[in-house]
Amino acid sequence: MTTHYTTPAKALHWLMALMLGCLLALGFYMADLPLSPEKIQLFSWHKWAGVTFFALVWLRLFWRATHRPPAYPASMTGLQQMAAHAGHFAMYVLMLAIPVSGWIMSSAKGVQTVWFGVLPLPDLVARDKALGNQLEELHGALAVGLMALVGVHVAAAVYHYRVLKDDVLQRMMPSKAE
Ligand code: HEM
Repeated sequence: MTTHYTTPAKALHWLMALMLGCLLALGFYMADLPLSPEKIQLFSWHKWAGVTFFALVWLRLFWRATHRPPAYPASMTGLQQMAAHAGHFAMYVLMLAIPVSGWIMSSAKGVQTVWFGVLPLPDLVARDKALGNQLEELHGALAVGLMALVGVHVAAAVYHYRVLKDDVLQRMMPSKAE
């Protein structure tokens, strides 16, 4: 029985944690900037990173489906295990919904997303200014929701490490040898 995450699972976890931090920071920073060529460039970088993040979520879900994560320590109660599962599930749903809401928002605002300026992605809806503004609100609200969930996730990891003194945090750390 495996007692730790595989190296690809760990790499995806920490890479996407870093990307998410950058996407959130760039998103909140660029949203209120006055219109300028720099703002448009930041929007492009945000979208390219957001679409890449979306692709990585699918890769991560595929890897998780084909490489069982380690079982929770027996010291965790049934309720704690259910809460952990629900939290992870909710984070995956938001990690898919936020990029999709951004993509549809851009389509509704009449701005096609061209991945890295090379690959034009299909517009998912026709131009609709009102829908674009609603999705902008939704996009920001979902991002705040994910930030809150990640906060609980990190607090739980620290709780396991400092209070329960089990190996739940170490199992995801790069250091733990295969
Ligand atoms: C996990 C991925 C993503 C995260 C965490 C994220 C997060 C954010 C945040 C926090 C904002 C600022 C919201 C506000 O202050 O109202 C924002 C704005 C924006 N995002 Fe994203 N985003 C992601 C992916 C995407 C994608 C894939 C696209 C489009 C293809 C996109 C397009 C936009 C646009 C256009 C804005 C600016 C809205 C405006 O002010 O006009 N985002 N994003």
